[in-house]
Amino acid sequence: MPKLTINEREIEVEPGTPVIEAAKRLGFAIPHYCYHPGLTVAGSCRMCLVEIEKAPKLQISCYTPVAEGMIVRTETAEVKQARQAMLEFLLINHPLDCPVCDQSGECELQDYYMQHGLHPGVMQEAKVVKSKKAFPIGERILLDQERCVLCSRCVRFTQEVSKTRDLGIFFRGDRSIVDTVEGKSLSGNYTGNLADICPVGALLDRDFRFKCRVWYLGSADSICPGCSRGCNIRVEYNASGRPHKAGGDRVMRLKPRLNPDVNGYWMCDVGRYGYKFIDSKDRLRAPTAPEGNGSGPITMEAALDLAAEQIRSARGELSVIASPQMSNEELLLTDRFFRVGLEVGAIPWRVPPPVPTEGDGILLQADRNPNTRGAELLDLDPAEADPEKTLSGRKGAVIFGHDLAGRPEWRSYLEKLEFIIYVGPLANETSGLASIVLPSAVYAEKEGTFTNFDGIVQRFHRALEPLGESLPEIEILQGLARRLGVEIPSDDAAEVG
Ligand code: SF4
Ligand code: FES
Repeated sequence: MPKLTINEREIEVEPGTPVIEAAKRLGFAIPHYCYHPGLTVAGSCRMCLVEIEKAPKLQISCYTPVAEGMIVRTETAEVKQARQAMLEFLLINHPLDCPVCDQSGECELQDYYMQHGLHPGVMQEAKVVKSKKAFPIGERILLDQERCVLCSRCVRFTQEVSKTRDLGIFFRGDRSIVDTVEGKSLSGNYTGNLADICPVGALLDRDFRFKCRVWYLGSADSICPGCSRGCNIRVEYNASGRPHKAGGDRVMRLKPRLNPDVNGYWMCDVGRYGYKFIDSKDRLRAPTAPEGNGSGPITMEAALDLAAEQIRSARGELSVIASPQMSNEELLLTDRFFRVGLEVGAIPWRVPPPVPTEGDGILLQADRNPNTRGAELLDLDPAEADPEKTLSGRKGAVIFGHDLAGRPEWRSYLEKLEFIIYVGPLANETSGLASIVLPSAVYAEKEGTFTNFDGIVQRFHRALEPLGESLPEIEILQGLARRLGVEIPSDDAAEVG
């Protein structure tokens, strides 16, 4: 491994590593625009210039591989002057509309100017080139050509990652612009990544635009529950203390988190924009249970009492249907409580979707459940759930998450049961048919792990409090087990894991 010195500190790195990456490992952040570690190197912005001993002039650190004995300096007067000059060039034509720009607070032009610029503008004449302001170039993305710094990250992304080849740089010199090829709309399932990789506010996420200033965002590391890939994400939520103007929405956006073994730097649009169910009107906020002649509001404790009574009354004639949407900890406790503790037999969980889904050949998998592999690895029923086999001759059923009543082949069997206890986050036909509804928290409101299709176990963390009176399933299971005198492992997801 070549050994080099950067700012008087030695480091050994793999051959072929660019100097910018070696410097990052030592904690020296070299400013850059066109370089992105998930894309090929363009070497066009000249922002990452560094001094390398014996080289006749400054070198771009994104394109220069490390070499044995190399001596690099990233903070000399000459390097600083070069950075200032590059910022000056970029700012000649860049509008100073930070107060109304969504990128403000996470803009690399803004940040680098504050870190490396802070000089008065040299340009005296008002000869700036005007370009087209924010206009839609796809269902999810707006383009503001005036703000573009021509780093070409977006163009390379559509060539190398999404393979849609939707974007190009057209015209020359100071007339150069990024635009869609032949004026067509962006295609594919990865367009949201364009807003992530644009270092300035030229490509904007239409869903997030004007929703929340980025400095009001809180964030928690999580795992996308949209398919069995389990992309590593951050759930970013409104932490301003003021309600979002659209009315109570807490989650503002999802962002991908680097994991080279799972999703690299990216996530798909299905997963990225799939977060809206978290604050949707369809969320179950309070338990319901029979009261007098109908189903009415009731406290969670009272609903758990009634559910425990019904489960006790149906011993030996109870069915339980788990779900691959549940975490490993929830599935384990479901198995320990119902199969081991109450001897209900092996618990089915595999219910094929009503409409078959497909993967996209990049990240998105055909299996839209985050924890199929986790369920396969536990002692649950490996066979597909079958209405006749699972429900016939039973007194009652506990159903986790699945909307089985929405399917004719299940509905007739469900209608014959004396009771249904539905545990899930969303209202559907099954919660409508259920005698007791126990609302559960969604992934962003609890702790746990999912096992992805490759067998990688990944932890997600709580970003929000459970909505209304909903509870994480492990607390619901623990509450039922306590009432029925069954010992199951702790209700702390970290301990269960
Ligand atoms: Fe979520 Fe799957 Fe898309 Fe990744 S590929 S973002 S896990 S839906
Ligand atoms: Fe190195 Fe652009 S980041 S030239």
